Amino acid sequence: MAQKIKSEYQSITEAYDLDQFKARAYQVVEILANYLANVENEPVLKWQDPEVAVASWSRDFTKTTPEITTIVKKFIDESNHLHSPCYAGHQVSTPLPTAALAEFVYSFLNSPSSIYEMGPASYGIEQAIVRWLAEQLYINTETAGAVLTSGGSLGNLTALLTARQVNAGYDVWQEGVKDDLAIIVSDQNHYSISRAAHIMGLGSKSIYTVATDEEFKLKSSELEAVYQQSQKDGKKVIAVCASACSTSTGSYDDLNAIADFCETHDLWLHVDGAHGASVALSEKYKHLIEGINRADSVVWDAHKMMAIPSLITAVIYKNRAESYSTFSQEASYLLDHNSIERDTCNRTVECTKPNMAMKLYLSLAIHGEEFFSDYIDYTHDLATRFAELIKRQDDFELAIEPESNIVCFRYLEKELNSVELNQLQKDLREKIIRSGDFYLVKTDLRGKTYLRVSLMNPLTKIDHLEELLCLIRKAA
Ligand SMILES: Cc1ncc(COP(=O)(O)O)c(C=O)c1O
Repeated sequence: MAQKIKSEYQSITEAYDLDQFKARAYQVVEILANYLANVENEPVLKWQDPEVAVASWSRDFTKTTPEITTIVKKFIDESNHLHSPCYAGHQVSTPLPTAALAEFVYSFLNSPSSIYEMGPASYGIEQAIVRWLAEQLYINTETAGAVLTSGGSLGNLTALLTARQVNAGYDVWQEGVKDDLAIIVSDQNHYSISRAAHIMGLGSKSIYTVATDEEFKLKSSELEAVYQQSQKDGKKVIAVCASACSTSTGSYDDLNAIADFCETHDLWLHVDGAHGASVALSEKYKHLIEGINRADSVVWDAHKMMAIPSLITAVIYKNRAESYSTFSQEASYLLDHNSIERDTCNRTVECTKPNMAMKLYLSLAIHGEEFFSDYIDYTHDLATRFAELIKRQDDFELAIEPESNIVCFRYLEKELNSVELNQLQKDLREKIIRSGDFYLVKTDLRGKTYLRVSLMNPLTKIDHLEELLCLIRKAA
C-alpha cells in the first residue's frame, strides 16, 4: 500500500517520506544492536576536552544530508558508554533496550501525560505506573496520590513545596515565605534537598543538619536536640528529610526511627528514595527501606536502579489530598478546576510533561517484575563481592561495608601523607577515565577522598572489578 504524504513544499514532503523514515529506523536499530554487542571491546569513554567536543559538533545546517548513520555512529562513539561492563560511575542507569523503544514510540507521538486530553493513553499509563510503584512500597493506594516528574531533584522540590504549603501554618502561596520556616536534613542528604529549600526561599540558616554515624546514616538519637534548637530559634519545621539511600555511600537511614520521631512531633517525613527505593522490588533487600510506607512523601527514580533511561521520577504522597495543595494557580487557557484530578500539570512544575511512564510500563510488561528483582539482587550482591575483594587487598581500603550497589574505597601508599593520599585518588581516577579502560567517580568523606563505584550495569562481572583494581595499581 502506498505510504506517501505530499505537501506543496518539497522540504515538507521529503521530511515525511515514510520509506526514508523506515530505512533510517532500521539502520539505527542495527547500529544500536551492534554497539551493544561490541561495547565491551570499546573504550568506556573516549576522553575529549570540552572545546574539542563543541568544535566537532558545530555544523552548517543550511547543508543537509539524507544519511543518518554517520551522525548516529559519531554520537555513540563520542558518548560515555553506560552499557560497558567497565562503566561504574554516576547513578545513571544502563538502559534496557526495550525501554529505549518505548521512548522512540513516545517521541514519535509526542502525547504528553500532563493534560489528559493531550494524551489519554499517556495519562492512563502514568496512573498505572504510579499506583504500581506505591504498592511496592506498601503505601495504601486507596488514599495515596502520586505524580511523575522530571528527575529526583525536581521530585524533592515538588515534595517539599507540598510540605511547605501543608505545614507552614499559613497560606504560603498567598502570603509568601516569612522568615520562620525550616527543614531538618542529614549531612548526607543529596544536594538537591538543600537546593530545593533555597529555591523555596529558606536560607542556609533555616536548614538544620543532623550528623550521621560511622555508617553515614542520620543519627536519629540527635533529631530531638536539633528540633529543639529550631524551636528555640522560633522556626516551624515543615519537613524532616531522610535518605534511602544516601548518594555518596549508599547508606540507608533508619526510616522507622525517623518516622517515630516525626509522629511524636507531628512533623512531615520526606524520604529521598531516588536511588534506593528500588530495593522494594527485591525480597532480599527490601528490609533496607522498612518504614518507608510511613513517610508523607517519597521520591523514587526509575532512571537510577530500574534500568530505565532518564528521566522518570515518582513523587508519592501518603495523602492524595495534600498533593493538590502544592500549587494554586489560575490559567483559563489550560488549568481547569473540574479536571484537576486528570490533568497532572496541576501537581507538577512541568506544564508539558513527556510520557515518562511508557518506558517502565513496556519494560515491566515485557520482562516482568522478576527482571527488576533480579537486577537489584545482582547489582547489590556484586557490590558485596567487590567489597570482600577489596578487603583481601593490602593496598586498598574500604570506606564502609556497602548496603547498596555503591562502594567507596581507596588505594593506599604508605609513604604518602593524608593530603597526598587524597590527591592520589583524584589523580588515579583522572588517569583511568582518560585511558577509557574504566569509568568510576570519587567522593570526599570526612576529609578523605575515596574512589566510588555505583554498580548500575547488570553486565558488569566481578572479573571486571578485579581488573579495575589491577588498573588502579598500574596507574599508581
Ligand atoms: C539520593 C538522590 N536524590 C536525588 C538525586 C537527584 O536526582 P536527579 O539526578 O534525577 O535529579 C540523586 C542523584 O544522584 C540522588 O542520589
